[in-house]
Amino acid sequence: MKSYSSLKNLNKACIKCNSCGLSKTRKNVVVGKGNEAAHIVIIGEGPGEQEDITGLPFVGRAGKMLDTVLSSVDIDPLKDCYITNIVKCRPPNNRKPSSNETEACMPWLTEQINLLRPKIIILAGSTAVQSFLGIKEPISKIRGQWIEKDNIKYMPIFHPSYLLRNPSKEKGKPKWLTWQDLQKVKKELNSI
Ligand code: URA
Repeated sequence: MKSYSSLKNLNKACIKCNSCGLSKTRKNVVVGKGNEAAHIVIIGEGPGEQEDITGLPFVGRAGKMLDTVLSSVDIDPLKDCYITNIVKCRPPNNRKPSSNETEACMPWLTEQINLLRPKIIILAGSTAVQSFLGIKEPISKIRGQWIEKDNIKYMPIFHPSYLLRNPSKEKGKPKWLTWQDLQKVKKELNSI
């Protein structure tokens, strides 16, 4: 992958990508959204139907849930974060992206991170943790613990879609745990 002088140039090239089969079925390439100068980058799995239609990440139901949990710790999804995904094109029927697809797409994400230079990366769900850090442990085991690598602090959290399926706010449940995890992120953000 060549390196780009700006995110704008990367975006222009990325929307023309046909490195994997997902390019044949997508409506739009979903590159990212948010504040390019933010300290936090959030990485999800891949676009769903609404994202494919609009070309923007996390705009459907999972996106609303992400906004809700971020707002609960006073993190503004668009001002405090830049939001993207492991794969930039929608896998048909919202299946998990294959390893060929995540590998084909990874150079875009690597280059995005090089240009964005975040201090904190929130990895939403096991696909993000596995593909980006190569960690295969279940998300339930590793969420909530900082992982430090190359001067970036990574916080694995449950994927917002999982929270939609587990809506209880009761202590110890996934939503409550995510709230704890994001409080750690907010504290770290405040210390920067
Ligand atoms: N789920 C994701 O992982 N990413 C999106 O952009 C939307 C839903």
